[in-house]
Amino acid sequence: MASSAAKTICLLPGDGIGPEVLVPAVEVFVQAAYFAGFEYTLLRGDIGGDALERAGVPLTDETVEMCRASDAVLLGAVGDPRWDSNPPHLRPEMGLLKIRKELGLYANLRPVRPMPCLLDCSPLKPEIVSGIDFVVVRELAGGLYYGEPRGITGEPGEETAFNTMVCCRNEVERIAKTAFQLARRRRKRVTSVDKADYLEVGRLWRRVVEEVAQGYPDVELSHQYVDNCAMQMVLRPAQFDVVLAENTFGGIMGDIGGMLTGSIATLPSASVGDGPCLYAPVHGSAPHLAGKNQANPAGAIGCVAMMFETSFARPDISAAIRRAVEYVLQQGRRTGDLSRVGGEPAHADAFAQLVQERLSTELEAVVP
Ligand code: IPM
Ligand code: MG
Repeated sequence: MASSAAKTICLLPGDGIGPEVLVPAVEVFVQAAYFAGFEYTLLRGDIGGDALERAGVPLTDETVEMCRASDAVLLGAVGDPRWDSNPPHLRPEMGLLKIRKELGLYANLRPVRPMPCLLDCSPLKPEIVSGIDFVVVRELAGGLYYGEPRGITGEPGEETAFNTMVCCRNEVERIAKTAFQLARRRRKRVTSVDKADYLEVGRLWRRVVEEVAQGYPDVELSHQYVDNCAMQMVLRPAQFDVVLAENTFGGIMGDIGGMLTGSIATLPSASVGDGPCLYAPVHGSAPHLAGKNQANPAGAIGCVAMMFETSFARPDISAAIRRAVEYVLQQGRRTGDLSRVGGEPAHADAFAQLVQERLSTELEAVVP
């Protein structure tokens, strides 16, 4: 492991707009690392369609080893329709599922905090969106995504497909602890999401979350069925502080929550486990936008902010990066995904340039 002042970051650009949003994110990293006095090494690995292209598999052992040897991993996006007809183990998404397993990443954290200057971009009314500040804590190592058996059987014309939602006590305990510990540093409320009215997995989930809650008497626990939670998230999203959910449910709630902010492209996420964390913007690979200089890099830059806070214990630098992004958005310089309030959309590289210029000012104001 590197010394505290030397950081190794493994970059996984991936597919679609992934590589182009990582370019300004890395520039912001370099700028902030210089300010923080960190020496750094940047590695580059293949994942997704990019890895299929180069190596014939969605994730190579070499990339896994590079990630393991790093202090943090920064991923662009994964997914490319060119490989849609591949069997499941040779689809780009499998690269992401595998790296999560290999790095033991069991919690995906998606903070949802709309910037005041973007309230008018939300599909919901500003009075519903204002004051939202929650984090979706998604279980990332089990649930429906990894459950066995899974498959498609039967003759053509009579096929049956099946997946299995598995709920293991140890996985629920672990993710519930993550949620309660996070809530302690926030407004001390956890909303646990399940389908305990109908599914056995939901009943065990709820029982285990309640047991874990005994150890956190200062945190208020409530439960919502997943269908109700989807409704509450658009009806009264300000009620949430920490939203705790199974893998599939959490992925869905994270996207609903993310869109409340106006554009999912502004949001970062962190996947955490026992080793290095993996940071990735919440948006996908958006192949239709690739190569057009239109992809909003704010989510990817936000990942660098999260990295400084979560992996490098520098919340001051993290806040400076977030302020720089917010400042530029506030000035009205926005990429196409956010420019429905009028005005010419900014090119992605011009937007990134402005963020970097502002970041110099913000970093100068940080007292070391
Ligand atoms: C996400 C993505 C992935 C997921 C896909 C690309 C497999 O949508 O990180 O939310 O479903 O987990
Ligand atoms: Mg998703």
